[in-house]
Amino acid sequence: MAMMQEEPPVFIPENEIRRRVEELARQVSADYAAAEELHLVGVLRGCFIFLADLSRLLTVPRRIDFMALAAYGKNAAPSGAVRLVMDLRTNIAGKHVLIVEDIVDTGNTLAYLKSTLLPRKPASLKTCVLLRKRERMERDVSIDYLGFDIPDRWVVGYGLDYADRHRALPYIGVVKTD
Ligand code: PRP
Repeated sequence: MAMMQEEPPVFIPENEIRRRVEELARQVSADYAAAEELHLVGVLRGCFIFLADLSRLLTVPRRIDFMALAAYGKNAAPSGAVRLVMDLRTNIAGKHVLIVEDIVDTGNTLAYLKSTLLPRKPASLKTCVLLRKRERMERDVSIDYLGFDIPDRWVVGYGLDYADRHRALPYIGVVKTD
């Protein structure tokens, strides 16, 4: 029989995530109260739980769409290059768009997203990010709604993975990567 998988130690408990996501949802709902509709753009795959929770707590009319991106292989392109794997299904011209990300590490993904979406002429383009590793950021990319600033640790759970494991943990945990 396979050994039981060890659970990563808790870094941010479930109730703290819940409280912070509720606060973010209140802020976003207040800021977009006058908007006809808000277009949430989730970045697969890590965003799926955060987006599910956030979107259900919002009180403004909203649509949900997804993009999938991938970093190029280490030797294939300059460091930080990002590739579009799946594009939006909706036209965002004239729409209020909120990018929803689980984590910003170097900032390359978010910078790429903004440079890809801005030319499509949305009425507004903002970002909502659950976690940021400030000390790892290589790009000066602004975040409009931020859940938590965290140190440079490998975090998993609540959508985040390590080698595709631990995504469904209800809390954010840390794993040893060596
Ligand atoms: C993670 C995360 C962001 C990106 C941030 O995605 O969801 O999209 O990395 O890193 P950056 O700021 O250095 O660009 P990942 O590539 O792990 O894919 P996943 O969401 O499918 O797990």
